[in-house]
Amino acid sequence: MATGLKLMRAIRVFEFGGPEVLKLQSDVAVPTPKDHQVLIKVHACGVNPVETYIRSGTYKRKPHLPYTPGSDVAGVIEAVGDHVSFKKGDRVFTTSTISGGYAEYALAADHTVYPLPEKLDFKQGAAIGIPYFTAYRALLHSARVKAGESVLVHGASGGVGLAACQIARAYGLEVLGTAGTEEGQNVVLQNGAHKVFNHREHNYIDKIKKSVGEKGIDVIIEMLANVNLNNDLKLLSQGGRVIVVGSRGPIEINPRDTMTMESSIIGVSLYSSTKGEFRQYAAALQAGMEIGWLKPVIGSQYPLEKVAQAHENIIHSSGATGKMILLLE
Ligand SMILES: NC(=O)c1ccc[n+]([C@@H]2O[C@H](COP(=O)([O-])OP(=O)(O)OC[C@H]3O[C@@H](n4cnc5c(N)ncnc54)[C@H](OP(=O)(O)O)[C@@H]3O)[C@@H](O)[C@H]2O)c1
Repeated sequence: MATGLKLMRAIRVFEFGGPEVLKLQSDVAVPTPKDHQVLIKVHACGVNPVETYIRSGTYKRKPHLPYTPGSDVAGVIEAVGDHVSFKKGDRVFTTSTISGGYAEYALAADHTVYPLPEKLDFKQGAAIGIPYFTAYRALLHSARVKAGESVLVHGASGGVGLAACQIARAYGLEVLGTAGTEEGQNVVLQNGAHKVFNHREHNYIDKIKKSVGEKGIDVIIEMLANVNLNNDLKLLSQGGRVIVVGSRGPIEINPRDTMTMESSIIGVSLYSSTKGEFRQYAAALQAGMEIGWLKPVIGSQYPLEKVAQAHENIIHSSGATGKMILLLE
């Protein structure tokens, strides 16, 4: 795969562990694309919580060591394999990479690469992959939302949450969101939510209950189920659904809470999506970019040298205000 000639800067992980195992190397070989592959000059790469779980070695999916993390790059096609319709110079973003996205160049299979419209910059391109495809799957595939229903995006200020707010609003839902800071709450309101609540206030669940009344909420997109699932079940409407997107541990619930309202708890896993589903989600999201409702919001930005800090901060966040990215320009 290596050309043997061109070298790049990239993050390499030689052993699983804390953020300190992310090593910046400047002599990593730039890969060469074959068949259905493309080589992308990376301008920005999204940082997703899952990359910290994988790095720690506790996640069910373990890459072979050493590896370079990162799946959501945005950049420009540098070279293509023999059977690829993209050409050198095309602006693109990805939902997956072969060689890793925390690097100056990334190799990707062409079916995981999508055109990036001119109206979005590379930072925004790096915020689309996991967040928007997950939010779309959670709302349309898992919750099967219908226009006119209500949705609570529980954890709306981060990458997946803001994507969910924009998509839900575009599909005609009544959107409620939560954030942990005033700044985060403002971003949520500016990106599709009709109402916002602060999940760090001790009585915010009562405020949500008061706001939605007897009827309850039709769908909850849950980013931290190990903290919120018990409360979520008490907020749902008849036939309501909690979609578990994020959870970092166990929680005790009373199954009886699902009985009266005949509610459901449904887990979502983006990487259970088929190639056909990815294509379907991409088509809907491309339309959102063209029309203009899909506008990724960037939160904190880090250079490659500060990747360990980024991994530390995404887990111990003081309050998200958009998608965290690495900048390679
Ligand atoms: N199932 C899947 O396929 C899939 C795909 C993508 C992501 N995920 C998971 O989904 C979660 C969110 O991902 P992300 O990329 O959006 O992360 P992120 O950008 O780091 O955002 C985290 C969000 O969680 C919020 N949060 C913090 N404390 C909360 C609480 N007590 N209740 C509700 N929300 C709270 C944060 O709000 P403040 O910072 O404002 O407090 C922020 O909005 C992560 O656990 C991730 O691993 C799962």
